[in-house]
Amino acid sequence: MITQLLLVNMKIAFVGKGGSGKTTLSSLFIRHLAATGAPVLAVDADINQHLGLALGLDDTVAAELPAMGARLPLIKDYLRGSNPRIASAETMIKTTPPGEGSRLLRVREDNPVYDACARTVELDDAAVRLMVTGPFTEADLGVACYHSKTGAVELCLNHLVDGRDEYAVVDMTAGSDSFASGMFTRFDMTFLVAEPTRKGVSVYRQYKEYARDFGVALRVVGNKVQGQDDIDFLREQVGDDLLVTVGHSDWVRAMEKGRPPRFERLEATNRLALQALQSAADASYERRDWERYTRQMVHFHLKNAQSWGNERTGADLAGQVDPDFVLRERLAATA
Ligand SMILES: Nc1ncnc2c1ncn2[C@@H]1O[C@H](COP(=O)(O)OP(=O)(O)OP(=O)(O)O)[C@@H](O)[C@H]1O
Ligand SMILES: [Mg+2]
Repeated sequence: MITQLLLVNMKIAFVGKGGSGKTTLSSLFIRHLAATGAPVLAVDADINQHLGLALGLDDTVAAELPAMGARLPLIKDYLRGSNPRIASAETMIKTTPPGEGSRLLRVREDNPVYDACARTVELDDAAVRLMVTGPFTEADLGVACYHSKTGAVELCLNHLVDGRDEYAVVDMTAGSDSFASGMFTRFDMTFLVAEPTRKGVSVYRQYKEYARDFGVALRVVGNKVQGQDDIDFLREQVGDDLLVTVGHSDWVRAMEKGRPPRFERLEATNRLALQALQSAADASYERRDWERYTRQMVHFHLKNAQSWGNERTGADLAGQVDPDFVLRERLAATA
Protein backbone atom coordinates (compact mmCIF):
# COMPACT_ATOMS: atom_id res chain seq x y z
CA MET A 1 0.00 0.00 0.00
CA ILE A 2 1.50 3.33 -1.06
CA THR A 3 0.38 6.40 0.82
CA GLN A 4 0.83 9.67 -0.97
CA LEU A 5 0.35 13.04 0.55
CA LEU A 6 0.14 16.54 -0.71
CA LEU A 7 3.37 18.01 0.49
CA VAL A 8 4.42 20.91 -1.60
CA ASN A 9 6.90 22.61 0.62
CA MET A 10 8.29 26.03 0.80
CA LYS A 11 10.37 25.87 3.90
CA ILE A 12 13.03 28.45 4.38
CA ALA A 13 15.70 28.78 7.05
CA PHE A 14 17.91 31.69 8.02
CA VAL A 15 21.14 30.55 9.61
CA GLY A 16 24.48 32.14 10.35
CA LYS A 17 26.84 33.32 13.02
CA GLY A 18 25.50 34.93 16.19
CA GLY A 19 24.70 38.58 15.56
CA SER A 20 25.01 38.31 11.77
CA GLY A 21 21.42 39.44 11.24
CA LYS A 22 19.43 36.19 11.02
CA THR A 23 16.54 37.55 13.01
CA THR A 24 16.53 40.90 11.25
CA LEU A 25 16.56 39.35 7.78
CA SER A 26 14.04 36.64 8.75
CA SER A 27 11.68 39.30 10.01
CA LEU A 28 12.09 41.46 6.90
CA PHE A 29 11.53 38.45 4.67
CA ILE A 30 8.44 37.49 6.65
CA ARG A 31 7.09 41.03 6.33
CA HIS A 32 7.85 40.97 2.61
CA LEU A 33 6.02 37.68 2.08
CA ALA A 34 3.07 38.77 4.19
CA ALA A 35 2.82 41.99 2.18
CA THR A 36 2.42 39.92 -0.99
CA GLY A 37 -0.56 38.26 0.64
CA ALA A 38 1.13 34.88 1.09
CA PRO A 39 0.28 32.82 4.16
CA VAL A 40 3.34 32.64 6.40
CA LEU A 41 4.21 30.51 9.37
CA ALA A 42 7.11 32.16 11.21
CA VAL A 43 9.17 30.07 13.60
CA ASP A 44 11.76 31.32 16.06
CA ALA A 45 14.26 28.52 16.67
CA ASP A 46 17.21 30.78 17.37
CA ILE A 47 19.17 30.65 20.61
CA ASN A 48 18.35 34.27 21.21
CA GLN A 49 14.59 34.50 20.88
CA HIS A 50 14.06 37.83 19.17
CA LEU A 51 11.85 37.15 16.18
CA GLY A 52 8.68 38.28 17.96
CA LEU A 53 10.31 41.59 18.81
CA ALA A 54 11.63 41.99 15.28
CA LEU A 55 8.07 41.47 14.06
CA GLY A 56 7.01 44.34 16.25
CA LEU A 57 5.63 42.66 19.36
CA ASP A 58 6.30 44.52 22.54
CA ASP A 59 8.44 42.99 25.27
CA THR A 60 5.63 41.71 27.45
CA VAL A 61 3.72 40.11 24.60
CA ALA A 62 6.92 38.55 23.22
CA ALA A 63 7.86 37.20 26.64
CA GLU A 64 4.47 35.55 26.98
CA LEU A 65 4.58 33.66 23.69
CA PRO A 66 3.93 29.99 24.40
CA ALA A 67 7.09 27.86 24.14
CA MET A 68 6.89 24.92 21.75
CA GLY A 69 9.59 23.19 23.77
CA ALA A 70 7.28 23.10 26.77
CA ARG A 71 4.41 21.62 24.75
CA LEU A 72 6.15 18.63 23.21
CA PRO A 73 3.75 16.00 24.63
CA LEU A 74 0.79 17.77 23.06
CA ILE A 75 2.60 18.19 19.74
CA LYS A 76 3.65 14.55 19.67
CA ASP A 77 0.23 13.26 20.61
CA TYR A 78 -1.43 15.26 17.89
CA LEU A 79 1.06 14.43 15.11
CA ARG A 80 1.13 10.75 16.01
CA GLY A 81 -2.58 10.54 15.31
CA SER A 82 -3.46 6.90 14.74
CA ASN A 83 -0.09 5.90 13.30
CA PRO A 84 0.18 2.30 14.51
CA ARG A 85 3.97 2.36 14.31
CA ILE A 86 4.23 4.97 17.06
CA ALA A 87 3.11 3.27 20.24
CA SER A 88 2.99 6.39 22.41
CA ALA A 89 4.01 10.02 22.53
CA GLU A 90 6.81 8.94 24.88
CA THR A 91 8.44 6.87 22.16
CA MET A 92 8.20 9.65 19.63
CA ILE A 93 11.49 11.49 19.22
CA LYS A 94 12.19 14.62 17.24
CA THR A 95 13.14 12.64 14.15
CA THR A 96 10.20 10.21 14.19
CA PRO A 97 8.90 10.44 10.63
CA PRO A 98 5.24 10.63 9.68
CA GLY A 99 3.61 7.53 8.25
CA GLU A 100 0.20 6.09 7.58
CA GLY A 101 -2.16 7.45 10.24
CA SER A 102 0.00 10.45 11.21
CA ARG A 103 -1.60 13.85 11.34
CA LEU A 104 -0.09 16.56 9.19
CA LEU A 105 -0.04 20.29 9.69
CA ARG A 106 -1.09 22.81 7.08
CA VAL A 107 -0.02 26.42 7.02
CA ARG A 108 -3.58 27.66 6.65
CA GLU A 109 -5.65 25.71 9.11
CA ASP A 110 -6.56 25.68 12.74
CA ASN A 111 -5.34 22.75 14.75
CA PRO A 112 -4.50 21.95 18.37
CA VAL A 113 -0.78 22.54 17.79
CA TYR A 114 -1.37 26.09 16.60
CA ASP A 115 -3.94 26.64 19.33
CA ALA A 116 -1.32 25.73 21.90
CA CYS A 117 1.83 27.12 20.30
CA ALA A 118 1.08 29.78 17.71
CA ARG A 119 0.08 33.41 18.03
CA THR A 120 -1.07 35.77 15.33
CA VAL A 121 1.14 38.76 14.67
CA GLU A 122 -0.37 41.71 12.82
CA LEU A 123 1.91 43.34 10.26
CA ASP A 124 0.52 46.46 8.65
CA ASP A 125 -2.32 45.04 6.55
CA ALA A 126 -1.37 41.40 6.91
CA ALA A 127 -0.95 38.85 9.66
CA VAL A 128 1.30 35.86 10.16
CA ARG A 129 1.40 32.96 12.58
CA LEU A 130 4.37 32.91 14.93
CA MET A 131 5.66 29.95 16.89
CA VAL A 132 8.69 30.03 19.18
CA THR A 133 10.80 27.27 20.71
CA GLY A 134 11.13 29.20 23.94
CA PRO A 135 14.33 30.33 25.65
CA PHE A 136 17.31 28.01 25.51
CA THR A 137 19.04 26.84 28.65
CA GLU A 138 22.60 25.64 29.19
CA ALA A 139 21.44 22.05 28.84
CA ASP A 140 19.90 22.75 25.44
CA LEU A 141 23.18 23.99 24.07
CA GLY A 142 25.13 20.84 24.78
CA VAL A 143 25.00 17.68 22.75
CA ALA A 144 21.94 16.40 24.63
CA CYS A 145 19.72 15.79 21.64
CA TYR A 146 16.88 14.58 23.80
CA HIS A 147 16.49 17.96 25.42
CA SER A 148 16.81 19.90 22.24
CA LYS A 149 14.35 22.74 22.01
CA THR A 150 14.42 22.61 18.26
CA GLY A 151 13.05 19.07 18.38
CA ALA A 152 9.53 20.47 18.46
CA VAL A 153 10.28 22.53 15.37
CA GLU A 154 11.79 19.58 13.56
CA LEU A 155 8.73 17.43 14.27
CA CYS A 156 6.44 20.14 13.00
CA LEU A 157 8.49 20.68 9.84
CA ASN A 158 8.45 16.97 9.08
CA HIS A 159 4.68 16.99 9.38
CA LEU A 160 4.03 20.29 7.67
CA VAL A 161 2.20 20.32 4.37
CA ASP A 162 2.70 23.74 2.90
CA GLY A 163 1.46 24.69 -0.52
CA ARG A 164 3.18 26.46 -3.39
CA ASP A 165 2.46 29.98 -2.28
CA GLU A 166 2.73 29.30 1.41
CA TYR A 167 5.87 29.76 3.41
CA ALA A 168 7.36 28.49 6.62
CA VAL A 169 10.25 30.71 7.64
CA VAL A 170 12.56 29.57 10.43
CA ASP A 171 15.03 31.81 12.25
CA MET A 172 17.69 29.36 13.32
CA THR A 173 21.27 29.10 14.51
CA ALA A 174 23.90 27.24 12.57
CA GLY A 175 24.49 25.04 15.58
CA SER A 176 25.76 21.48 15.63
CA ASP A 177 22.44 20.17 16.89
CA SER A 178 20.79 20.95 13.58
CA PHE A 179 23.45 18.88 11.80
CA ALA A 180 23.13 15.92 14.15
CA SER A 181 19.38 15.69 13.84
CA GLY A 182 19.04 16.47 10.18
CA MET A 183 17.16 19.69 10.81
CA PHE A 184 19.40 21.38 8.24
CA THR A 185 18.03 19.11 5.50
CA ARG A 186 14.40 20.08 6.13
CA PHE A 187 14.40 23.25 4.07
CA ASP A 188 13.86 24.01 0.42
CA MET A 189 16.19 26.93 0.79
CA THR A 190 18.67 27.90 3.46
CA PHE A 191 19.86 31.48 3.60
CA LEU A 192 23.17 31.80 5.35
CA VAL A 193 23.52 35.33 6.64
CA ALA A 194 27.14 36.43 6.61
CA GLU A 195 28.84 39.64 7.51
CA PRO A 196 31.84 40.39 5.32
CA THR A 197 34.33 39.07 7.87
CA ARG A 198 36.39 35.91 8.20
CA LYS A 199 34.20 34.69 11.05
CA GLY A 200 31.04 35.26 9.06
CA VAL A 201 32.44 33.26 6.21
CA SER A 202 33.79 30.42 8.37
CA VAL A 203 30.26 29.50 9.44
CA TYR A 204 29.40 29.33 5.75
CA ARG A 205 32.25 26.89 5.11
CA GLN A 206 31.13 24.58 7.88
CA TYR A 207 27.54 24.68 6.75
CA LYS A 208 28.50 24.12 3.14
CA GLU A 209 30.39 21.00 4.08
CA TYR A 210 27.38 19.43 5.77
CA ALA A 211 25.06 20.66 3.08
CA ARG A 212 27.06 19.21 0.21
CA ASP A 213 26.39 15.57 1.05
CA PHE A 214 22.67 16.14 1.40
CA GLY A 215 21.88 18.31 -1.57
CA VAL A 216 20.86 21.21 0.65
CA ALA A 217 20.17 24.40 -1.30
CA LEU A 218 22.31 27.05 0.36
CA ARG A 219 22.71 30.70 -0.61
CA VAL A 220 24.62 33.41 1.16
CA VAL A 221 23.02 36.71 2.06
CA GLY A 222 25.67 39.29 2.83
CA ASN A 223 24.60 41.61 5.65
CA LYS A 224 25.90 44.88 7.08
CA VAL A 225 27.71 45.37 3.81
CA GLN A 226 29.17 48.86 3.51
CA GLY A 227 30.70 49.10 0.09
CA GLN A 228 32.23 47.44 -2.91
CA ASP A 229 35.15 46.07 -0.92
CA ASP A 230 32.71 44.16 1.31
CA ILE A 231 30.92 42.76 -1.70
CA ASP A 232 34.21 41.79 -3.35
CA PHE A 233 35.33 40.04 -0.17
CA LEU A 234 32.16 37.97 0.04
CA ARG A 235 32.25 37.14 -3.64
CA GLU A 236 35.85 36.03 -3.33
CA GLN A 237 35.08 33.85 -0.31
CA VAL A 238 31.78 32.22 -1.26
CA GLY A 239 31.70 32.61 -5.04
CA ASP A 240 28.41 32.07 -6.77
CA ASP A 241 26.73 31.09 -3.51
CA LEU A 242 26.47 34.81 -2.83
CA LEU A 243 22.87 35.66 -3.68
CA VAL A 244 22.52 39.24 -2.59
CA THR A 245 23.85 41.73 -0.08
CA VAL A 246 22.09 44.03 2.36
CA GLY A 247 23.51 47.20 3.79
CA HIS A 248 22.69 49.13 6.91
CA SER A 249 18.98 49.84 7.05
CA ASP A 250 17.60 52.97 8.65
CA TRP A 251 14.20 51.30 8.54
CA VAL A 252 15.52 48.51 10.74
CA ARG A 253 17.08 51.01 13.10
CA ALA A 254 13.80 52.92 13.40
CA MET A 255 11.99 49.66 14.07
CA GLU A 256 14.45 48.83 16.82
CA LYS A 257 13.72 52.16 18.41
CA GLY A 258 10.13 51.01 18.66
CA ARG A 259 9.00 53.28 15.85
CA PRO A 260 8.41 50.96 12.94
CA PRO A 261 7.55 52.79 9.75
CA ARG A 262 5.13 51.03 7.43
CA PHE A 263 6.86 48.23 5.59
CA GLU A 264 6.53 49.86 2.18
CA ARG A 265 8.90 52.53 3.47
CA LEU A 266 11.75 50.01 3.62
CA GLU A 267 14.66 51.17 1.45
CA ALA A 268 14.21 50.28 -2.22
CA THR A 269 17.50 48.37 -2.41
CA ASN A 270 16.53 46.24 0.56
CA ARG A 271 13.10 45.57 -0.92
CA LEU A 272 14.84 44.36 -4.07
CA ALA A 273 17.06 42.13 -1.97
CA LEU A 274 13.99 40.57 -0.33
CA GLN A 275 12.49 40.02 -3.76
CA ALA A 276 15.69 38.21 -4.76
CA LEU A 277 15.36 35.98 -1.70
CA GLN A 278 11.82 35.10 -2.63
CA SER A 279 12.76 34.34 -6.24
CA ALA A 280 15.58 32.07 -5.10
CA ALA A 281 13.27 30.29 -2.66
CA ASP A 282 10.52 29.90 -5.23
CA ALA A 283 12.99 28.50 -7.76
CA SER A 284 14.20 25.91 -5.27
CA TYR A 285 10.68 24.61 -5.00
CA GLU A 286 10.97 23.19 -8.50
CA ARG A 287 13.97 21.14 -7.49
CA ARG A 288 12.37 19.34 -4.58
CA ASP A 289 13.17 15.66 -4.71
CA TRP A 290 10.47 13.89 -2.73
CA GLU A 291 12.14 10.54 -2.55
CA ARG A 292 15.28 12.09 -1.22
CA TYR A 293 13.41 14.20 1.30
CA THR A 294 11.74 11.10 2.67
CA ARG A 295 14.98 9.11 2.61
CA GLN A 296 16.81 11.79 4.55
CA MET A 297 14.11 11.91 7.17
CA VAL A 298 14.48 8.18 7.67
CA HIS A 299 18.28 8.35 7.56
CA PHE A 300 18.46 10.84 10.41
CA HIS A 301 15.79 9.05 12.38
CA LEU A 302 17.70 5.77 12.28
CA LYS A 303 20.89 7.59 13.21
CA ASN A 304 19.26 9.28 16.21
CA ALA A 305 17.49 6.08 17.20
CA GLN A 306 20.77 4.24 17.33
CA SER A 307 22.86 6.90 18.99
CA TRP A 308 20.45 7.75 21.83
CA GLY A 309 16.76 7.28 21.00
CA ASN A 310 16.44 3.51 21.43
CA GLU A 311 18.21 3.61 24.74
CA ARG A 312 16.27 6.60 25.95
CA THR A 313 12.84 5.26 25.08
CA GLY A 314 13.50 1.57 25.60
CA ALA A 315 12.02 0.81 22.21
CA ASP A 316 13.37 -0.10 18.79
CA LEU A 317 12.61 3.15 17.01
CA ALA A 318 13.55 1.78 13.59
CA GLY A 319 10.11 0.20 13.69
CA GLN A 320 8.56 3.66 13.44
CA VAL A 321 9.61 3.96 9.83
CA ASP A 322 6.74 3.30 7.45
CA PRO A 323 8.50 1.74 4.46
CA ASP A 324 5.68 2.54 2.05
CA PHE A 325 5.34 6.14 3.02
CA VAL A 326 6.58 8.62 0.45
CA LEU A 327 6.00 12.33 0.56
CA ARG A 328 4.52 13.42 -2.73
CA GLU A 329 3.07 16.51 -4.27
CA ARG A 330 -0.21 14.98 -5.14
CA LEU A 331 -2.76 14.31 -2.49
CA ALA A 332 -3.91 10.83 -3.03
CA ALA A 333 -5.39 8.50 -0.61
CA THR A 334 -4.16 5.02 -0.34
CA ALA A 335 -3.82 2.95 -3.42
N1 LIG B 1 20.80 45.40 7.71
C1 LIG B 1 20.77 45.89 8.96
N2 LIG B 1 20.58 47.22 9.17
C2 LIG B 1 20.57 47.73 10.40
N3 LIG B 1 20.76 46.99 11.51
C3 LIG B 1 20.96 45.68 11.37
C4 LIG B 1 20.97 45.05 10.09
N4 LIG B 1 21.18 43.73 10.26
C5 LIG B 1 21.30 43.54 11.57
N5 LIG B 1 21.18 44.69 12.25
C6 LIG B 1 21.30 44.87 13.70
O1 LIG B 1 22.33 44.03 14.19
C7 LIG B 1 21.95 43.43 15.41
C8 LIG B 1 22.02 41.90 15.29
O2 LIG B 1 21.08 41.47 14.34
P1 LIG B 1 20.15 40.21 14.59
O3 LIG B 1 19.60 40.21 15.96
O4 LIG B 1 19.21 40.15 13.47
O5 LIG B 1 21.24 39.06 14.44
P2 LIG B 1 21.08 37.52 14.79
O6 LIG B 1 21.98 36.81 13.85
O7 LIG B 1 19.68 37.11 14.83
O8 LIG B 1 21.71 37.52 16.23
P3 LIG B 1 21.60 36.40 17.37
O9 LIG B 1 22.63 35.40 16.99
O10 LIG B 1 21.93 37.15 18.59
O11 LIG B 1 20.21 35.87 17.32
C9 LIG B 1 20.55 43.91 15.72
O12 LIG B 1 20.62 44.96 16.62
C10 LIG B 1 20.04 44.38 14.38
O13 LIG B 1 19.11 45.39 14.47
MG1 LIG C 1 18.57 36.16 16.31
